[in-house]
Amino acid sequence: MPSIKINGVTNLQSNPSNTLLETMERAGLAPEYNCRDGHCGACRCTLVSGEVEYVGFAMAYTQGREVLPCICRAKSDIELEDVVYKLKEKRA
Ligand code: FES
Repeated sequence: MPSIKINGVTNLQSNPSNTLLETMERAGLAPEYNCRDGHCGACRCTLVSGEVEYVGFAMAYTQGREVLPCICRAKSDIELEDVVYKLKEKRA
């Protein structure tokens, strides 16, 4: 399973059948998103290393190494920067 490093601090194991956004959510993170369909760009972040494959059509503007985690899966170990997320609040 590819590993995903986020903002240089968090390491996750990616399930190849999930998008990067879903993988982060399953790991207890609450990444920023809106459409979950490649349109809005709210989830946009930078791919520092590794390869992703798109499983949807990217309509939102990206430049350089920017990717849209809501419609990408990890093809190899990857490193992402500029991911905007919160930790999910745990309920007592
Ligand atoms: S959540 Fe809208 S582009 Fe990813």
